[in-house]
This record gives sequence, C-alpha cells and structure tokens, in this order.
Amino acid sequence: MADKVIIFDTTLRDGEQSPGASMNTAEKVEIARALAAMKVDVIEAGFPIASPGDFEAVSRVAAEVKGATIAGLARALEKDILRAHEAVKGAERPRIHVFLATSKIHMEHKLKKAKEEILRLAVEGTRLARNLVDDVEFSPEDASRTEPDFLCEVVEAVIAAGATTVNIPDTVGYAEPEQFGALIATLRSRVPNIDKAVISVHCHNDLGLAVANSLAAVKAGARQVECTINGLGERAGNAALEEIVMNLKTRRDFFGADSGIVTQRLVPTSKLVASLTGIFVQRNKAIVGLNAFAHEAGIHQHGVLAERSTYEIMRPEDVGLQKSDLVIGKHSGHHAIGDRARDLGYELSDEQLTQVVAEVKALADKKKQIFDDDLRTIIEGVAAEAKGLFRLVRFQVASGSTTIPTATVVLQRDDEEPVQDAATGDGPVDAIYKTIDRITGISGRLLDYQIRAVTSGKDALGEASLLFESSGLRVSGRAASTDILEASAQAYIVAVNKVAALLNHKKRANGAPAGDEHP
Ligand code: KIV
Ligand code: ZN
Repeated sequence: MADKVIIFDTTLRDGEQSPGASMNTAEKVEIARALAAMKVDVIEAGFPIASPGDFEAVSRVAAEVKGATIAGLARALEKDILRAHEAVKGAERPRIHVFLATSKIHMEHKLKKAKEEILRLAVEGTRLARNLVDDVEFSPEDASRTEPDFLCEVVEAVIAAGATTVNIPDTVGYAEPEQFGALIATLRSRVPNIDKAVISVHCHNDLGLAVANSLAAVKAGARQVECTINGLGERAGNAALEEIVMNLKTRRDFFGADSGIVTQRLVPTSKLVASLTGIFVQRNKAIVGLNAFAHEAGIHQHGVLAERSTYEIMRPEDVGLQKSDLVIGKHSGHHAIGDRARDLGYELSDEQLTQVVAEVKALADKKKQIFDDDLRTIIEGVAAEAKGLFRLVRFQVASGSTTIPTATVVLQRDDEEPVQDAATGDGPVDAIYKTIDRITGISGRLLDYQIRAVTSGKDALGEASLLFESSGLRVSGRAASTDILEASAQAYIVAVNKVAALLNHKKRANGAPAGDEHP
C-alpha cells in the first residue's frame, strides 16, 4: 500500500504574503471550507500575532471549518505562542507551528543571537506550545542554508521537547532537488529520534524548483508537504498544491506514496482562490491552466481521439475539468441552479439563491448558452454584493472621439436613499470611478486594472479585476457582466466596499461610538 503524504496548505498564511493577495476574513473562511472539502489534511489559517485581522481569521476558521487540522503560526516567543493557541484552540484538531531561523546568515544579521541561544529558544518555544496542544510543528527557518550539524542538533532537540512534525524550509528557494533530497536523507540517518516526528518540507519557488524540491524530499522520506493553491506565496511563491498532488497521483508507481486529496476539486478551488485574490494563473500553468488539457496540433488531436493516453497522462475530469459543462438555461429553476451551485462548491442562502436565479435568467436573455464559469461568476458577484455597503443602482456613460467622457452613477448604501452624481474623466472607466469616489467619499489609487473574457463566445461575460489602494489599505475587486463598463463599475464598488468595511473595523477596534458604521 502507498504511504500517505500529508498535505499542509498555507494559502491563507504564506499565500497571503504574495504581494497584492490580501483577503478579508469572510474570503479566508470561504477558501478554508473549499480546502476542507478537498480533504486537505492541515490548513495553516494565518499568523495570529501579526494583526487583529489575522487573529480573527484564524479563530473563525478554527471554529467553523471541520475535518482538517487548523494551524496557527508563531515565532518562538511566548506572546506569539499564546496568541496562536488562543486563535486555534476552538478547532477540532489545533496545531501550533513555531518557527525560528537557524542559518548562520539569519542568526547573525537578523536575530543577532548565538547558536546556544537559538537552541534554547527553539526548545523552550516547542515545550510551551506542547503544553498547550498535542500537535506541534517546529520549523528551523532557512534550513537549507543551515550548517547540517547544527540543523541535526536543533531537530533532535525540538523532537525531544515535544515537536510532532519537523518542517524543513527552503525559505529562499536556494536548494537544488538532489541536494534537498540528500538533506532529508541526512536528517533521517543522523537524528536519533527522527522516527518520533513527521518530516515536512516547505519550499519556495525563487528558482522555479519548489515542486521539484518538495518531491525530491518525498522520495527521500518526507511525509508532509507544505504548499499553496496556484503556488501563491512570498515572492515567487510556494510549491503549487495541485502540482504536488497530481505528481503523487500520476506517478504513484515512482513515489510509492499518495495524498488523500479529492483531486476533482483542484480546478474549482484554483478558480476560487484566483477570483478572491485577483491573482490569475497563466494559461499554460500545469494542472489548472486553461491550456493544460487543450490539444492544438492536429497530430495530437488525432492521437487523443484515437486513444486518449497517446498525449494525455491525466484525465481532465480527475482534476475537476468538465468537457461539457453546459448547465442551465432560461427555464432552469431554483432547484437545478441550487444543485449546480452546490456541485461547484457554493452554499447559498435562500436570499442569495433567489438573486442568482434572477441573474441567470437575465443573462439567459442576452446569452444563448450558460456554462459553469458563467454561474460561478454570478454567484461570486452576488456573494460580494451581500458583503458590501454600496450597491450600484444604475449608471450611464457618454463617450466618443469628440465627447468628454462623462458618467452619471446612482449608488445606494444599505437601505438609505439612492445618491446620484456625475463626473468627467480621461475615459469612460475613469469617469465612472471618479463619480463613485464622489459618492462614497473613498478615493485612492488604482494599482492594477484588467478586463478579460471569462467565458466562451462573442457574448462572453467580461470580467474586470482590479487592485485598489486607499487609506493605506490594499484590496482587490472583481466582477463580471456582458457589459464591460458595468463589470468595471461593479469591481470598483466591491473594492470600495472592502475598504469601507476595513475602515469601520479599524474604527470599532479603536473605540469609535457604536452605530458609526460609515467611513
Ligand atoms: O519560508 C519559510 O521559511 C516559512 C516558515 C515560517 C515555515 O514560511
Ligand atoms: Zn515560506
């Protein structure tokens, strides 16, 4: 029987450290639910001491997401470990993940501490965490650049102090596969109590080797891999979960090991994470890219039609790609749409379902065929709206080669009277955004703005996604419509609503009077 490789997902922690990938608590809970549905073994939900928002997200994931171990990250400091414990203690299976750098370069320049002190802090931190929970992971940060003798000493000491998992990070993505595999083999042969803990790896992708290094480690005996959906993460990212999982499944003969992941959930989860973070994968990305199963050359198409295995080593349906995902039309009712939404991984309230059904019918009037991606886009738009404070009632734009672009926009905040305003801009989108700024009183900088077709055909839905910065907060916005100006307006409103919600949260945390709901 194949050995089990534990899949530790850190999309919500290291993944969130990707520039521009910040998510709010509701989005993190949504992703954590999708990860649990995919049967990820461990979900690292955040770094609780880092901010009140991180603490809240980890606590909510711990309380609400069942089926997976929920981990919180902590430096080897008492205050971090206690805070992490506070956040994860409501989980079915809580884990505290303690880390401390052990490489000469980090000890000297970052921590300014000698080896003896590092060893003492690692042991004390692990012991404290183990007094609080049964499941403790220790990471010697920058392990791949740590002197092997010292690494063995630290690993042995933290296992003796109660660590149940020792995670070996290639923090800066410096290792090469052969070398990294050899490092795991060294730990297995030289650390006397190594069989008392699971060996884990956490590889960064600076040289494009995160997946290769992680798999070399598995081949050498590591039995936990830390990874993220779509390979998100600090700088060039972490090992991509979908690539690790499909390597193990497709080449089980080679690894003698496999994960317990429901692989059919890989593509839907990848899409969910992309849409919530605003970071999309390239078309030719392995496993989850749009082209991953597309055969262009005639000779390949001919081969696949005759016998799929001529050019396909995995089946598209095994990663959650459906060839024919034509789902619903004008006449589909609540039942069919609700069922399909559930298949796609969404739990909708009755109110949300009613709104989704109305939007599906409106779209069916404009567009002949409705695909899963259309439905997904509508559902996420409805969910985003429900979370928001401002709602687009209507808009109108005058634009042309001899006209100054002018927008008129009507917004409504909760149940208040709708507010109308108008402004000119450098183009129609700029005019809409300037008008929204005037109504909401929230203005900022647009750091990124993209329009793309998300579904097929001339009548495809256009999706606007953007990155917006205001009052020191960086948020993403995304929306889709057959009208790209409407999609642009809605995406901007999603982002503005996030800023409004974060500012309200900050105000409340600073003791603003109750009822002061708006910035
Ligand atoms: O890259 C790294 O070393 C980390 C640790 C906290 C595990 O993210
Ligand atoms: Zn990392």
